[in-house]
Amino acid sequence: MTSKHRKPYIAGNWKMNLGRAQALDLIKTIKGRLGDGSDREVAVFVPSVYLADVAAVAQGSPLGVGAQNIYYETEGAYTGETSCQMIREVGADRTLVGHSERRHLFGEPDEWMARKMRCALDHGVVPMLCVGETLDERKANRTERVLKRQLEAGLMLLKPDDYHLASIAYEPVWAIGTGEVATLEQIGAAHACIRKFLAAKIEAEIAQTVRVLYGGSVKPDNAAAIMALPDVDGLLVGGASLKPDTFIPIVEFDS
Ligand code: PGA
Repeated sequence: MTSKHRKPYIAGNWKMNLGRAQALDLIKTIKGRLGDGSDREVAVFVPSVYLADVAAVAQGSPLGVGAQNIYYETEGAYTGETSCQMIREVGADRTLVGHSERRHLFGEPDEWMARKMRCALDHGVVPMLCVGETLDERKANRTERVLKRQLEAGLMLLKPDDYHLASIAYEPVWAIGTGEVATLEQIGAAHACIRKFLAAKIEAEIAQTVRVLYGGSVKPDNAAAIMALPDVDGLLVGGASLKPDTFIPIVEFDS
């Protein structure tokens, strides 16, 4: 199976942006412009407080709605956190795990990622594990080592049957929100490294079902070229996902 047999997955990560009215306008526009979802999967990862409203608008359409983060316990004294059950209950069906902003700004350790992945899968929430190196790590030639460490930690508690649900986003930290896109060569090499890791870890047939997305300053004018790379199955879009004018052309990239 080549990447072109995996359904392209285009996802927006709104981060901590948009007022409620803007968020609802945006989701209505995306829903209105979306096809039947047969040739590509589209989802948005929205601030938790908007999940219920956004999921209600998206209901009945192929648009996926997810959280940007979850905690791995089911309930308890975890001030400020959101459980998988809670996000399921308000209509979300997926979550990001280990976005670099969680890792670097909020100090989330590698060990949490396996538990978050497990918790999401146990509660019917489809997880996307985010991995990526910092600029210092890249300069020190440690990109592959960092990716392998993050993958090993994040996928540790997955069973073979879980893999077809999970996806991975490669997001070089230095390319996130900076306007600096990784070169096609850098993206290709990182994705090849991730595919190689998966092939070594699990049965080839299962490994081939996992989609690997690229994220980091994706824009309408670079989306198609990145998607044309053989190991790239999708895009995780931050800044450009906040406006229909920039997100829709990415969703509609020519394959
Ligand atoms: P960006 O963010 O597209 O604004 O670089 C990507 C992400 O953090 O998911």
